[in-house]
Amino acid sequence: MMLTKLTLWNKVMHIYEWKSQYDVGLQLIDVEHKNLIACINKLIIAQNLDQHIVLKLADEVIAYAEFHFLSEENIMYLTQYPELASHAEVHKKLIEQLREHRKDLSKSVHCLQDFVTFLVRWFIEHTQTVDPEVAKHVLNYKSLPNSPEYMIQKIAKEHYES
Ligand SMILES: [Fe+2]
Ligand SMILES: [Fe+2]
Repeated sequence: MMLTKLTLWNKVMHIYEWKSQYDVGLQLIDVEHKNLIACINKLIIAQNLDQHIVLKLADEVIAYAEFHFLSEENIMYLTQYPELASHAEVHKKLIEQLREHRKDLSKSVHCLQDFVTFLVRWFIEHTQTVDPEVAKHVLNYKSLPNSPEYMIQKIAKEHYES
């Protein structure tokens, strides 16, 4: 299938560069955050292509955000993070808001900038305030050797270290 350019849509959004201040201090989470930014960048690169592919890439962003939230919540659960419920509530609200933006996007591709700007603003704020608290907790959590909590800490601390 040939990808066609949408002539009505000519706003230009630029891709996002990863910045060190987005690092939360735990590779397991940072890797997923970088992947989410990569998904957003794919959507930006496709901004002038036809609506079908733009919507598919927007769906990929939402699906990846959902995956990442579940992954982060499982880490919180396994390390008995005291703020799990409120943190998960913030994640849930974001997905609901993204779904609303997705509805607007299916009506008009001109809503793409709103979708991306909304998500990136949220991401930058969340990764610099709420998520680093999780990383700190996981790194300081006292677990019994070979318990599931110990194993998740081991994976979180070592798995992505080169
Ligand atoms: Fe989070
Ligand atoms: Fe996160």
